[in-house]
Amino acid sequence: MKTLARLVLGLVILDAVVAAPTLPSINYDSETYDATLEDLDNLYNYENIPIDQAEIEIATVMPSGNRELLTPPPQPEEAQEEEEEEESTPRLIDGFSPQEPEFTGVLGPHTNEDFPTCLLCTCISTTVYCDDHELDAIPPLPKNTAYFYSRFNRIKKINRNDFASLNDLKRIDLTSNLISEIDEDAFRKLPQLRELVLRDNKIRQLPELPTTLTFIDISNNRLGRKGIKQEAFKDMYDLHHLYLTDNNLDHIPLPLPENLRALHLQNNNILEMHEDTFCNVKNFTYIRKALEDIRLDGNPINLSKTPQAYMCLPRLPIGSLV
Ligand SMILES: *[C@@H]1O[C@H](CO)[C@@H](O)[C@H](O)[C@H]1NC(C)=O
Ligand SMILES: *[C@@H]1O[C@H](CO)[C@@H](O)[C@H](O)[C@H]1NC(C)=O
Repeated sequence: MKTLARLVLGLVILDAVVAAPTLPSINYDSETYDATLEDLDNLYNYENIPIDQAEIEIATVMPSGNRELLTPPPQPEEAQEEEEEEESTPRLIDGFSPQEPEFTGVLGPHTNEDFPTCLLCTCISTTVYCDDHELDAIPPLPKNTAYFYSRFNRIKKINRNDFASLNDLKRIDLTSNLISEIDEDAFRKLPQLRELVLRDNKIRQLPELPTTLTFIDISNNRLGRKGIKQEAFKDMYDLHHLYLTDNNLDHIPLPLPENLRALHLQNNNILEMHEDTFCNVKNFTYIRKALEDIRLDGNPINLSKTPQAYMCLPRLPIGSLV
């Protein structure tokens, strides 16, 4: 009996011990389980975002750092720009090997380093960069200058002596200045000038230009009816690009040289054109095969009025046909 009583008591106690805490503990657990899971989730997410990013940063910083160590140091800005600008003109053309400029800069007779303009601007080999220097006149240039850049300055006038006896000069780029006047002789005597870029200025009248030019850009200026001389481009046998966009021209400058590839005249005041502007109305076997890019859009001209004018062209001009 004693044993049975102990057994029953033990069972009751056991039941009480087992049953009493289980119900509240289950409730407690089930209530807090979700909460703690959410909390854990939140903790996991919030804490893991920075950790992941940190890991990603470490992962990306490390190899790129290594890569930087492996790649050669970047070239100076000027040297890169020069490469881009002179893509079409091989460096060897002026007789220098690519390494030579630095060398001659120290030792050779071609050094321009102590030329006054080269202290202000940047001279690399035969190229002079004077972009964005608040210049109000063309600075004196070393005698062997082949490429001259003076964009984004305040130059108002080009004088007859500015480029005098620069017999190696091949490119002049005076984009975005305030040029309104150019002396008649400013460019005429430059025997090797090939590229003339005077866009974004206030030029009303072009001076006489050397016939060696291959590339002319006088876009966005004030060239009007008398801005371009009669037959100004006639003898430029190597002229490929003639850009006269955004001026006030009322006619197409004639005659156009035979090798011209691109003629841009958009946004001018050209009202009419003749049947023989591009072609030869007396000879239908004539083909002007080089001229593939004619822009006449933005002019008050009706291209439909001269249907015979495009017979010899590889492509129709772009402009209003209605
Ligand atoms: C017509 O043009 C062709 C090609 O330019 C030329 O060979 C030919 O001599 C010209 N004929 C005349 C009569 O001018
Ligand atoms: C353009 O010229 C064609 C041919 O002469 C004509 O039919 C058309 O009406 C003209 N369009 C305008 C806008 O003057």
